Amino acid sequence: MPPMQLFPPFCPSCRESLARNGDSFTCQKCGRLYPMRGGFVDFLSSLPLAEAQQVVRRTFDTLSPSYDNAIVRLVEGLGCPWDDYTARLETFMAGAGGKIILDVGSGTSFPVGPFVPRTSIYVGVDVSAEMLGHAQSLFGDSLNVALWNVDAERIPLPDSCVDLCLALLSFNVFPEPHKAAGEIRRVLKKDGSVFGTVFVQAPPEDLLSERPVEPQFVREVLSVFDPSAWKFTDETEGGILFFSVNRAAST
Ligand SMILES: C[S@@+](CC[C@H](N)C(=O)[O-])C[C@H]1O[C@@H](n2cnc3c(N)ncnc32)[C@H](O)[C@@H]1O
Ligand SMILES: [Zn+2]
Repeated sequence: MPPMQLFPPFCPSCRESLARNGDSFTCQKCGRLYPMRGGFVDFLSSLPLAEAQQVVRRTFDTLSPSYDNAIVRLVEGLGCPWDDYTARLETFMAGAGGKIILDVGSGTSFPVGPFVPRTSIYVGVDVSAEMLGHAQSLFGDSLNVALWNVDAERIPLPDSCVDLCLALLSFNVFPEPHKAAGEIRRVLKKDGSVFGTVFVQAPPEDLLSERPVEPQFVREVLSVFDPSAWKFTDETEGGILFFSVNRAAST
């Protein structure tokens, strides 16, 4: 068992805690087996993806070797200097020490990797095993990192356990963004917060085969966080929209 999986996953189907069994995890309730593959937990062999998610997975499996360069070109091509992009991320991560961080559609974890404190627990979930393979190379055998090959619609965590949730350029890509947002809402603690990015303009070159989304779309998807209890903020730099959700001060 590689040391990367000290933070235990739950069954994404019935949300029971999983028992470790050699190189796999087994659900005590439904009996599903989730094997370790190359350092991350494979939930997809037991819970196959719908067709739309399979298309996304294949796209990112193929893109993964050139992904990190492509994402920098995409962000800068949309008029947002990469240093500005990562500075905003760094600011959000400044308080991440000791926290449980969930990165939804984590990919290669390249933009956020340098800002993950060793005192935190970082859980990256992604449908693309190839993208996660690059993330694993980035993190090495860090004890505070868990990478799970799973659909964002079935996050293998119990309710209300995550302090900080990241969704970096992933809402441009999710086939079922409302379901992913619902899962983020479910697993986030009452005093947790979300930080994310999307591109809202068409990139000058087609790097990810994905479309921009409207700022209003992000706001609508995240209205799953009751606006009377949660504060949604957003700001654009070039064609990149940065958004966050925090508990409203009075609740
Ligand atoms: C544009 S990349 C962003 C990666 C990373 N967050 C970053 O900022 O570099 C989008 C990622 O979302 C993943 N993804 C797409 N649909 C997903 C889903 N339903 N569940 C989990 N991951 C998904 C893709 O595999 C891809 O790695
Ligand atoms: Zn189960």
